[in-house]
Amino acid sequence: MNTTLTARTTSPEATIALGRLLGQLLVGGDVVSLIGGLGAGKTTFVKGIVEALGGEGPVRSPTFAFVHHHRCRQPLDELLHVDLYRIDEPQEVDGLALDELVDDATVLIIEWMERAGGLLGEPSVTVDFTVQEEATRLIVLSMPAPRLAGLVDALHDGDRPASRGSR
Ligand SMILES: Nc1ncnc2c1ncn2[C@@H]1O[C@H](COP(=O)(O)OP(=O)(O)O)[C@@H](O)[C@H]1O
Ligand SMILES: [Mg+2]
Repeated sequence: MNTTLTARTTSPEATIALGRLLGQLLVGGDVVSLIGGLGAGKTTFVKGIVEALGGEGPVRSPTFAFVHHHRCRQPLDELLHVDLYRIDEPQEVDGLALDELVDDATVLIIEWMERAGGLLGEPSVTVDFTVQEEATRLIVLSMPAPRLAGLVDALHDGDRPASRGSR
C-alpha cells in the first residue's frame, strides 16, 4: 500500500533538491508519474532525478520529442523522460513503443501519464504538484511505505548534514 509525504518548496532549486532525494531511491523498472498543470514544476523536479542517477544531457521539456533519453550511471542503463501532454488519445502511446524501450535497467519518468488512460500500467511512484504562490509548490509524493521511509531518512539527513558518516 502506498503512503504519502507532503513537502512544500519555495524555489526551483528546492524542487530540484527534492527530485535528487527521490532519484537516489529509484531502481530499475520504476515508473514515476508526475501530476500537475503546466508550470507546476514537473520538469524542474526531473532535473534532480537525472542528477541523482548520473544522467547525461540537459533536461528539457520533452513536449515535442515525447521521449528524452538520458544515459545513466550503472547499474541503470537509461532514464526515459516522457511527456504525454500533446497526445490526443491514449492509443497514441502505443506509437511510442515504450514497452520496447523499458527493462529492468531503465527508469521511466512520465509527465501527464494520466493521458495514457491506464495503457502504461500503474506507476510505482506518484508525485503531485500544486502551485501555491509564484515560487511555492505543494508536492505530494506517494509510494510504498518502506521506500517512503527511505525518503524521510534522506530528508532528515539533509537537515543534519553531519549525521551520516561522521562517526
Ligand atoms: N518552487 C518551485 N518549484 C519548481 N518550479 C518553480 C518553483 N518556483 C517557481 N518555479 C518555476 O515554475 C516553472 C516550472 O516549470 P516546469 O518545471 O517546466 O513545469 P511543468 O513541467 O510542470 O510544466 C519554472 O519556470 C520554474 O522556474
Ligand atoms: Mg514539463
